[in-house]
Amino acid sequence: MDFALTQDQKMVRDMVREFAEKELEPIAAEIDESREFPTSTLKKMAGLGLMGVVIPEKYGGAGLDFTTLAIICEEISRVCASHGVITAVNNSLCAYPIYHFGTEEQRKKYLPDLCSGKKFGAIGITEANAGSDPAGMETTAVDKGDHYVLNGTKAWITNGTDARTFVIFAYTDPELRHKGMSAFIIDKDFEGFSVGKHENLMGIRATGNCELIMDECIVPKENLLGEEGGGFKVVMHTLDVSRIDIGAQGVGISQGALDASVKYAQERVQFGKPIAEFEMIQDMIAQMSAQTDAARLLVYRAGSMKDAGAKRFTREAAIAKYFAAETVVAVTRMAVQIHGGNGYSKEYPVERMYRDAKIIEIYEGTSEIQKIVIARNALR
Ligand code: CAA
Repeated sequence: MDFALTQDQKMVRDMVREFAEKELEPIAAEIDESREFPTSTLKKMAGLGLMGVVIPEKYGGAGLDFTTLAIICEEISRVCASHGVITAVNNSLCAYPIYHFGTEEQRKKYLPDLCSGKKFGAIGITEANAGSDPAGMETTAVDKGDHYVLNGTKAWITNGTDARTFVIFAYTDPELRHKGMSAFIIDKDFEGFSVGKHENLMGIRATGNCELIMDECIVPKENLLGEEGGGFKVVMHTLDVSRIDIGAQGVGISQGALDASVKYAQERVQFGKPIAEFEMIQDMIAQMSAQTDAARLLVYRAGSMKDAGAKRFTREAAIAKYFAAETVVAVTRMAVQIHGGNGYSKEYPVERMYRDAKIIEIYEGTSEIQKIVIARNALR
């Protein structure tokens, strides 16, 4: 197995790191406080090709690979987890399923705007009563000849307040459960579609997380994504891809917390010497370094499997996401501990990182769901 990044991957990593430190780090605390969706920096990122990373150039994308997309999510999340997940969602939860499952007409109609940042994208799977169990969703889509009528409310939708293109899941035949779910592409201006409550979250606060309401929402027939009844497979495959990027988000936040802790430990003097010289601080720095590196390798393994054309990488994506989630929560806890009282204050970025970290254990499948996927694979 080759652990080295290609020249192109290194070039993209360095470019994104420079951009993130210059443009995103200075506003990360501010948007965490204000909850403002960072449209202007996202448009700059789109100009660099970061909004349609794996989408072929003929549809306006950058035509790069999935490992590069993970590296991008990592570098952005290292300084700002909100920008990190907005990027992951636009790329792998909206543009990717439209590219992978869409018709040529759908690709041409929706992908250029998602890649250029003219429109941002989101996905609507979760509902108030259907989180870990997406097959328990209650949204319905009734066939009315040349269109469907959708009714239901989606919850906890990242990018929701500012997205204009949505991939939404609903039951065309609720009796059939998994085999009766379908996917649709919905424009924000479709009749009967509206944005609901904007959530006030603990972390990733600038992500426009909100409810989406479909009240007799009219969706043209040509906006069915994939086959009628094929929606559950669209959900599961799309989540396999995006779990790699959420794992990368965990790696990025971990690396950011580690970098901040190394700097702080070398500067902070107690008992007449920098605290970096104390072995209990070194113990934490060693654990943080080892866990972050291990999580990164698991993320790269899953990304490179997808790049190599593997049909199923469900297990590897779940392992990467699970391990990165446990890592980022542990690493940011240690980062706050190293910073002591200062780490508990908004004056230092590790306070925000600790809050941002927790969501990695929850969204895109909780750690418990990842363990179910991993164990089912082991026991098969
Ligand atoms: N790829 C393709 N097909 C898959 C699949 C995969 N990864 N996983 C399952 N399937 C297929 C199965 O083969 C099966 O097909 P057949 O009926 O043809 O045999 C069908 O789907 C049903 O599979 P299961 O019986 O395994 O389904 P299940 O109901 O037991 O669910 C689960 C499995 C893994 C627990 C799944 O429900 C799950 O992943 N839950 C978590 C949901 C989640 O991650 N939500 C995140 C929301 S999005 C989000 O968080 C975005 C954000 O905010 C940033």
